[in-house]
Amino acid sequence: MQDKRVDVGFDFDQIIDRRGMNAIATDGFRDYLFDGQDVVMPCADDDALVMWVADMAFAAPPAAVDAMRERIERPIFGYTVLLDGSLYDAFAGWCERHYEWVPEREHFVTSAGIVPAVDDLVEYIVKPGEKVLTLSPAYGPFETAATKHGHQLVTCRLVASNDGRYTVDFEEFEKKLADPDLRLFILCHPHNPTGRVWAEDELRRMAELCFAYDVMVVSDEIHCDLLRTGLTHTPLAKLYPESDQIITCMSSSKTFNLAGLGMANVIIPNTEIRDVWLGRKFPVVNPISAAAATGVFRHGDRWLEQLHLYLDANFELVRDTLAGQLPDAVFRIPGATYLAWIDLRAYFSPDVDLTRYFAERSGVLLEGGHKFIADADGHVRINLACPRSVVENALTKIVAATLEQ
Ligand SMILES: Cc1ncc(COP(=O)(O)O)c(C=O)c1O
Repeated sequence: MQDKRVDVGFDFDQIIDRRGMNAIATDGFRDYLFDGQDVVMPCADDDALVMWVADMAFAAPPAAVDAMRERIERPIFGYTVLLDGSLYDAFAGWCERHYEWVPEREHFVTSAGIVPAVDDLVEYIVKPGEKVLTLSPAYGPFETAATKHGHQLVTCRLVASNDGRYTVDFEEFEKKLADPDLRLFILCHPHNPTGRVWAEDELRRMAELCFAYDVMVVSDEIHCDLLRTGLTHTPLAKLYPESDQIITCMSSSKTFNLAGLGMANVIIPNTEIRDVWLGRKFPVVNPISAAAATGVFRHGDRWLEQLHLYLDANFELVRDTLAGQLPDAVFRIPGATYLAWIDLRAYFSPDVDLTRYFAERSGVLLEGGHKFIADADGHVRINLACPRSVVENALTKIVAATLEQ
């Protein structure tokens, strides 16, 4: 029988009013973006163009909404545990279709999110005095995950080519791994904020160096489904099915705009670490979140295909606009994420707080380089998971504000 949901058209142009829903994106930006400074924008807060936090301005797919509705129609929300394996089965099916990889059921656990999962894994794996490594520029919460447990976060700077392609400096990477106190590498794959999809040879080199120095790897693959059309994702763990040194974090939250539901999947092959994880956690899950995640892993494929096409076009618009109007900006369309990472160092000195600058001059809410861990000055990250009209409007304002400074 054909699933009717695959024939639904999806309207990514629709503007949805998020105000009054406690959305961080629209109602909570001041605390996060401006660090308590009193920033005055040229528009009311409600009229700002919201392109910062990594969630989408698009409606979640019918596959999620229908599954939640079906669950709500049986309105008992008592203690719920993943007893019947339906979430694992749906996730395993998704992994098989999209990555030709099936994680073992025994290794599969859930978390309220990937940030909480990385926090917990640092606590379980890294001992006092030991350090954590990541590639920079890097996603801010990786630093908090290390430092909140008293560990130093060490960064290995990515090398950017003149046209904005980032690669790993393997000599430097090995030097950092050779520190006997280094215990854990947090890989962001694909990488936020640069959007790099690591190639198989890069993944192998990183993993094998980690194995050689006995460093555990947490591979945060939250952006792994948000690829440009035609690309595929290779989970790091797929390359080393016998290894128990790689923990994989994945989620329906980023892919399907379900971050508020607080549900992520973690694959822990290492028995000792998994036992600690299971021993510390109460296995109850939110039944609505579990229904949504199961629904999208079963039926979300076509929505994602359409999303890819829409995002491809948003990225092309950014590339073409910058090439025509800010020719000294360095930008290349990334293989993954819905985040445009733009080097504006030709236009701004490194000490300018670009988050504040673009909010004050243009009412565009984006994240400047100082919001990321290390090596990001003079860059901005713009979230393109929003209707094309918003991207067009924002680009006009960003170009004008850049040229006027
Ligand atoms: C690399 C990375 N990891 C984790 C997260 C957030 O994960 P969660 O919402 O599941 O805690 C994000 C969100 O932007 C991210 O970019």
